[in-house]
Amino acid sequence: MAGNLRPLVAGNWKMNGLKASTEVLRAIINDYDAALAGRVDLLVCPPATLLTAFADLAQGHRVAIGAQDCHSELAGAFTGDISAEMIADAGAAAVIVGHSERRAGHGESDADICAKAKAAWRAGLLPIVCVGETRAQRDAGQTLAVVERQVAQSVPDTLPADVVIAYEPVWAIGTGLTPTTGDVAEVHGAIRRQLVARYGGQGESIRLLYGGSVKPSNAAELMAVEHVNGALVGGASLFAADFLAIARGCCG
Ligand code: 13P
Repeated sequence: MAGNLRPLVAGNWKMNGLKASTEVLRAIINDYDAALAGRVDLLVCPPATLLTAFADLAQGHRVAIGAQDCHSELAGAFTGDISAEMIADAGAAAVIVGHSERRAGHGESDADICAKAKAAWRAGLLPIVCVGETRAQRDAGQTLAVVERQVAQSVPDTLPADVVIAYEPVWAIGTGLTPTTGDVAEVHGAIRRQLVARYGGQGESIRLLYGGSVKPSNAAELMAVEHVNGALVGGASLFAADFLAIARGCCG
């Protein structure tokens, strides 16, 4: 765990969850005891259809709710999209932008993602900007170049409010594969140096999450790596017990 930054464990539910899944959030809220809440922040990002119900349920509790994507515009003729303002209006506090499943499946560019991060701030949301290399890029020795380019171009030049960056190697997502702790340390260290060079002291306080096959069994090891300030969890975040076990793994 790096420095004094308070860890954040975020659950990305992707395209999973129905109204009945409210019970999972209820269990997370109930078991997020004071000892854990004193040490780690929790964020649950359900599909857009559940944002309002989840935000209503989490109201008055310390679990924050986030969305998985937003459009960069305020409003308009963008069928199927939702704006950052709509997400805030639903009661959410954060939004994931630039997930590799959006970059690859929806053709999102670094410039698109940068605009979405700015839209998140415009609406008072915390943007979580995702970066990460593909298997082919890692095999070609391009990991740091790819990740540094994504950070340079997806994270806006000025930071009017907080931002979180999630390093998610594409090949580790949903595969059960994880990089070695040495590989994670190399990438997170490089991102930290890049942020400090670009933003000065502000770059020290940006939380860097690791994501990709984080489970209760590997969370403590991954979270102990320098400059890892939390986790972005996919599949395991759908189960309250696993999600909370990962959060506990964050506490050292
Ligand atoms: P998994 O934890 O299922 O590998 O997914 C990671 C992810 O994509 C989180 O955004």
